Amino acid sequence: MAAIGDSPRVSEPQALLLESVHETAAESLRAHGITVQTRPKGLGEDDLIAALREMGDGPLMVGIRSKTHVTARVLEAVPNLIAVGAFCIGTDQIALAEAQRRGVPVFNAPFSSTRSVAELVVAEVVMLSRGVFQRSMAAHRGKWAKSAAGSHEVRGKTLGIIGYGHIGSQVSILAEAFGMRVLYYDIDLKLPLGNADKSVTMQALLADSDFVTLHVPDTKLTRGMLGDEELGYMKPGAFLLNLSRGKVVDIPALRERLVSGHIAGAALDVYPEEPASTTEEFRSELRGIDNAILTPHIGGSTVEAQANIGREVATALERWIGTGSTLGCVTLPQLDAPAPSRDASGSRIVNIHSNVPGVLSAINSVVADSSVNIVGQSLATNEEVGLLYIDVQISPNDAKARELRDAIDALETSIRTRLIAL
Ligand code: NAI
Repeated sequence: MAAIGDSPRVSEPQALLLESVHETAAESLRAHGITVQTRPKGLGEDDLIAALREMGDGPLMVGIRSKTHVTARVLEAVPNLIAVGAFCIGTDQIALAEAQRRGVPVFNAPFSSTRSVAELVVAEVVMLSRGVFQRSMAAHRGKWAKSAAGSHEVRGKTLGIIGYGHIGSQVSILAEAFGMRVLYYDIDLKLPLGNADKSVTMQALLADSDFVTLHVPDTKLTRGMLGDEELGYMKPGAFLLNLSRGKVVDIPALRERLVSGHIAGAALDVYPEEPASTTEEFRSELRGIDNAILTPHIGGSTVEAQANIGREVATALERWIGTGSTLGCVTLPQLDAPAPSRDASGSRIVNIHSNVPGVLSAINSVVADSSVNIVGQSLATNEEVGLLYIDVQISPNDAKARELRDAIDALETSIRTRLIAL
């Protein structure tokens, strides 16, 4: 009998996609032999458990966005859930520690909306430079604010990018296409793209830039990294953009600088506190300050980004089913090894185990007793769990492969063990 999560050629997996995940996901999963059910809305805990249980005892995957919560209770109630796809960036809605403990990989899509954010940044650089929002608001009030005063081209101006990762580096390319000079600052060694120049310190970048844009993650180091002192290093009349994470900028300090005119304008998409839903009121000290463009965390909210997210997470789920790859996984150690040879017709035992002393020697003694020829082994571990591939040159339908999988799975340290056709 197949164990839960054996590969498509061993037992058929199914996926339940909720919250109108983009259709690229269902298309891709179906093309890989995975049966897909879709629902437009999210589900509460009890309904999610019921919906998954209705799908039977075979291997299941669930795809969610931000509204559905995959809690510890869901993971316990549906032991045949072998993967969770978060078709978004955040994973706070998933009980990650419990998923790891149960050997359930969780995949998200941190980089699919990169381009969408970068486009909005360069658009807002122009909007800020021309005072478009104030003039538009004035026109709505019947005021004809036709004047060149304070309006500038962005060509030849300096854009300082803090955080030169996926988004920052794309902003760099787009800004250069506008004829801007680009500076960047990153704690990691990053090679410049185009003609961008690296600033050795953040202070130097702040002092040299006409526009400063933030593209860092939310970490202990970045929280509050632009406080009053750092804002003070900025050129008088410069602009600030934050489309990264809300806690990176000290908002009261920014407010002061905007009111005093030291900072000529700002564009913010993220805030220390954000409404949980579209019906909740947005509260911010920046409301009512007309040289601040405030957008409701929409930097990555485009149809194209949703389509990319659908493909990115579906691909991760397909790889997990097909080869046991955990690339992009946020709960298990990341491991991705190709089949040992191109014409291989063998199988891979994918074992997730508790990372405790002696675990590997216990597995290896089971393997040694089995008389099955091993053609490859790969291991990745974190502090809690290990992920091990054992590639053998026999078909997954061969009783010996199944016996070996079962014997490894029976070890006390094993959390989950699957058999995959290579
Ligand atoms: P990334 O991980 O590719 O790049 C982040 C860069 O920041 C890395 O190069 C890293 O070395 C650098 N960094 C980290 N700590 C730093 C520090 N203390 N000082 C200087 N540099 C530092 O991330 P990506 O994809 O470029 O995303 C950047 C940010 O944008 C993230 O916070 C992400 O959550 C946010 N984001 C916002 C969206 C929106 O809708 N507004 C959509 C997508 C991402």
